[in-house]
Amino acid sequence: MIRVVEKPVTDSTNDDVKALAEAGAPHLSVVWAHRQDAGRGRHGSKWVSREGNVFWSILLRPQKTWSKFTDITFVASVAVHTCIRDVCGQNTNVEIKWPNDILVEGKKVAGILIETGGAFLTSQPEWIVVGIGINVTSSPTLTSGTYPASCLHELGYEDADREKLVNLLNKQMVTELGLWVDYGFEGVRRRYEAVAHRIGEVVTVSQDASKTGYVTGIYQGITTDGEMIVDCDQGQRVLIASGTVMLR
Ligand code: BTN
Repeated sequence: MIRVVEKPVTDSTNDDVKALAEAGAPHLSVVWAHRQDAGRGRHGSKWVSREGNVFWSILLRPQKTWSKFTDITFVASVAVHTCIRDVCGQNTNVEIKWPNDILVEGKKVAGILIETGGAFLTSQPEWIVVGIGINVTSSPTLTSGTYPASCLHELGYEDADREKLVNLLNKQMVTELGLWVDYGFEGVRRRYEAVAHRIGEVVTVSQDASKTGYVTGIYQGITTDGEMIVDCDQGQRVLIASGTVMLR
């Protein structure tokens, strides 16, 4: 059963949930806050965390019924996508940019930071924290070269509010985890690819791990391990495990 703690202000809900994990809190413990003073994003970046937006983190403890815990990135992306689409309406253009940014009308409105820790037992970590930030009433100013950020209000979805989104997240994350356990990664992959940004189109991806520069080609989908499948001009297929899809 999900247990939810609400905080008016905190440094980072991911840090709060990590502390709960270390203190022995159970699977599905959630902390959400109205504001963060030290919000963190992926790749060590700062996550601007003003009042009005969603800052939500959940503790997951690997279960016997789980296959690969790394699937969680895609499970969480699909869950957040569903929540945002439910709030904005089924006809809104809501997409997932690989691996786990949520775009509305081509602008980033939500991001996911997954952290793991504790002893690694049978190749699973002791705990996983999935932290989700959704820009509802404000977003940081644009940085050139990356996807522009926006918020739901700026995009015209003024009925969106953080409480509604938090309630949806509490429900949808559990639902999507259940679907993954019951039907496996194949269903998650299908739901993910159905809403993947630029699937079937030419993409340029900067590779984080190899630092070998950029890969350009047609984005065909994701592998069973969640790698991005990109077919380059010379017929060569590249699998990308870690990288950033560029705007160009
Ligand atoms: C990204 O860089 O796209 C990921 C952003 C994740 C932000 C969320 S807000 C709730 C949780 N607490 C944090 O400090 N970060 C995550």
